[in-house]
Amino acid sequence: MPNNVAVVTGSNKGLGFAIVEGLCSNYDGIVYLTSRDENRGKSACEELKKIGYNPKYHQLDITDEDNVKSFCNFINQEHKEIEVLINNAGILFLKDSTEPKSYQAEQTIAVNFTALVNFTEAILPLIKNGGKIVNISSSSGHLSRIPSEELRNKFRSIDLSLDELKRLMKSYVEDVREGKDIEKGWGDSPYVISKVGVNAYTFMLHRKLFNKGITVNCVHPGYVMSDMTRGGGSVTPQQGAVHPIRLALKPEGGGLYVWHDGTPVPWDGPDPRTYIDGQLSKQK
Ligand SMILES: NC(=O)c1ccc[n+]([C@@H]2O[C@H](COP(=O)([O-])OP(=O)(O)OC[C@H]3O[C@@H](n4cnc5c(N)ncnc54)[C@H](OP(=O)(O)O)[C@@H]3O)[C@@H](O)[C@H]2O)c1
Repeated sequence: MPNNVAVVTGSNKGLGFAIVEGLCSNYDGIVYLTSRDENRGKSACEELKKIGYNPKYHQLDITDEDNVKSFCNFINQEHKEIEVLINNAGILFLKDSTEPKSYQAEQTIAVNFTALVNFTEAILPLIKNGGKIVNISSSSGHLSRIPSEELRNKFRSIDLSLDELKRLMKSYVEDVREGKDIEKGWGDSPYVISKVGVNAYTFMLHRKLFNKGITVNCVHPGYVMSDMTRGGGSVTPQQGAVHPIRLALKPEGGGLYVWHDGTPVPWDGPDPRTYIDGQLSKQK
């Protein structure tokens, strides 16, 4: 039995759901829809079954270490290996959120960065040579979004180790806790720092896995209408899923930061967001 298996995190709704739908239609293998909440995930699977697709389901909360372990054990026993991993699960506190900033920073880094990294590292031994990893980033992951040049240099250093990157992300959360994040040049958005961290990890992982032929990329899917944006956005989840799916099936290279129009952009170049009528267009 061919071991072509794809796993998508946080795929009970939004972009992740659309990625599973697109993979079910285009990927020659088994597609896992996963979700932290079993009921939400199973009903999402049912929805896809109604329109003729047949995803498999497994519960997975990427912030839960035991859950991650048991998911990896399950995949190991059932399939031995996977070919495609799409790290999609993520959270965003919108500007009108009332939670304290320190809480927002802790949570956002914990889910978008730390859990993504820990889950990827846990499942890495099961990713087969020639496999593909796609990290769902954002326009917020562009390095130019961090005001401090010193911090930008730390993030982009090719000598940065994973431990150092984790420490850097931890120092951001501590700076927010102490009210020093703005003064130290992190900027005002935990979401930006979480996605910059995801991009830094993507390029690091690409360098590490290059010899195994495993392709690692990150992608800004566009401003996607979903619960995260309270329905705002300029593209449907299906439209936002096009390039993540392409990178999972036929990437044109690795270590790329792909923009929502499908073109790779330099991570440390100028801010690629477009301006409409003198204002930045809304792209998360
Ligand atoms: N929407 C945009 O404009 C936009 C733009 C750029 C990038 N993105 C990125 O695209 C990805 C998907 O976002 P979306 O717009 O589809 O948002 P969404 O509709 O809010 O979906 C987010 C998904 O992540 C899941 N999730 C959250 N925490 C999780 C955890 N600990 N373990 C497992 N799953 C978890 C959610 O599960 P629950 O249903 O249980 O909450 C949900 O399935 C995110 O990484 C986001 O940052 C979105």
